[in-house]
Amino acid sequence: MRTIEWLDGKVRLIDQRQLPRELVLEECTDCRQVAQAIKEMHIRGAPAIGAAAAFGLALTAYHSKAASPEELLQELEEAARLLRTTRPTAVNLFWAIDRVLSKARAIESDVVALKEAVIQEAQAIAEEDVNTNKRMGAYGAELIEDGYNILTHCNTGALATVDYGTALGVVRTAWEQGKRIHVWVDETRPRLQGARLTAWELKQLGIPATLVADNAAGLLMRSGRVDIVLVGADRIAANGDVANKIGTYNLAVLAREHGLPFYSVAPTSTVDLSIPSGEHIPIEERDAEEVTHIRGIPIAPEGMPVYNPAFDVTPHRYVTGIVTEKGIVYPPFELNLKKVLRG
Ligand code: MRU
Repeated sequence: MRTIEWLDGKVRLIDQRQLPRELVLEECTDCRQVAQAIKEMHIRGAPAIGAAAAFGLALTAYHSKAASPEELLQELEEAARLLRTTRPTAVNLFWAIDRVLSKARAIESDVVALKEAVIQEAQAIAEEDVNTNKRMGAYGAELIEDGYNILTHCNTGALATVDYGTALGVVRTAWEQGKRIHVWVDETRPRLQGARLTAWELKQLGIPATLVADNAAGLLMRSGRVDIVLVGADRIAANGDVANKIGTYNLAVLAREHGLPFYSVAPTSTVDLSIPSGEHIPIEERDAEEVTHIRGIPIAPEGMPVYNPAFDVTPHRYVTGIVTEKGIVYPPFELNLKKVLRG
C-alpha cells in the first residue's frame, strides 16, 4: 500500500499519527485538508510531503469551477501559498509545488488541458519518487556488507516517501540482496518516528532490528556494535550541509569520533543549490506539548519552558557521502553536488 495516492478526485493517505496501533486511511477532497494533514503530520517525511503538496494542487485543479485558465492559475497560486506555510524545512515541499506550478503556467490553451496537466504532473512526481528510491537503494546497498549493523534515525522508509523509502530503502535493498543485516532503530524523540514507524516497517519486512533510546548511540558505537550510520535528509545545502531530524548531528559527531561512515540518503530533489550552507536552512520549531506530553499525559512540570526544534543541521565535514538516485556523491560536495544535479 502506498503512503499517499491519487484516487480520481480524492487523495488517500495513511494517517501516520495512529501507527503502530492502527492502520488508518484518510481521504482528502480539497487542498485545505491536505495542508492540514501535512502541518499536523498525518503525513510526514520530505518526499511524502512533496507528493502530498503536489496532490493538494491536483485537488484544487480537479474540483475547480474556473471559467478560464487565468482564473484557475490564480486558484492554484492561492492553494500553493497555503501549502507553503505548512512546514518550512523539507525543500521537497517547495520543489514539488514549483514543479506543478511551472507546468501549469506553461499551459495557456484551455481549462481542461490545464487541469489535466496539473493532475498528471502530481502523479508523475509520485511515480518518480518510487523509482528514485529504488535507484538509491541499489547505489546505497553497495555500502552495506554482509553482517553489518546499521544505525538509523527517524523514519526514512516507505512511510516517509510515496513507497520504498530513502535510507530505509537502502536497508531494504541490502536485505533483498540476501545480506544478513541488523538495524539499530533510534526511537527519535519527541515524536517517536523511529519507535512508531521505522520499527513497524522493519517488523513487517522481517528485517532484524532492535529499538534503542536515542541516547544509546554513543555506547553502541564505542562497543563496536555499529558499522555504518544511514539517515535521510530534509534539505541539503549547496556545500553538503544536511538538515535532518533533530538528533542527526549528534550521531554524525559520534560517528566521526568512532571512525564510522555516516551517509545521508536523499533524492536530488532534496538538494537546494540556492542555499549556500546549512546556516541558511529554516528550522521548524514545533509545539511545546510534543516534549512535555506523551499521548496527552504530562511528563514535565506544568508551565516548563520548552525549546522544540524539529531538525538540526549536520555540517558537511561530518558527512562521508550522500546517496542520490544518480549515484553516491563524495566530497568536495560543493563541486560534486552541482555536477550531479546538472549532469
Ligand atoms: O518531521 P518528519 O517526520 O517529517 O521528519 C522526517 C525526517 O527527518 C526524515 O529523516 C527526512 O524527511 C528524510 S525521509 C525520506
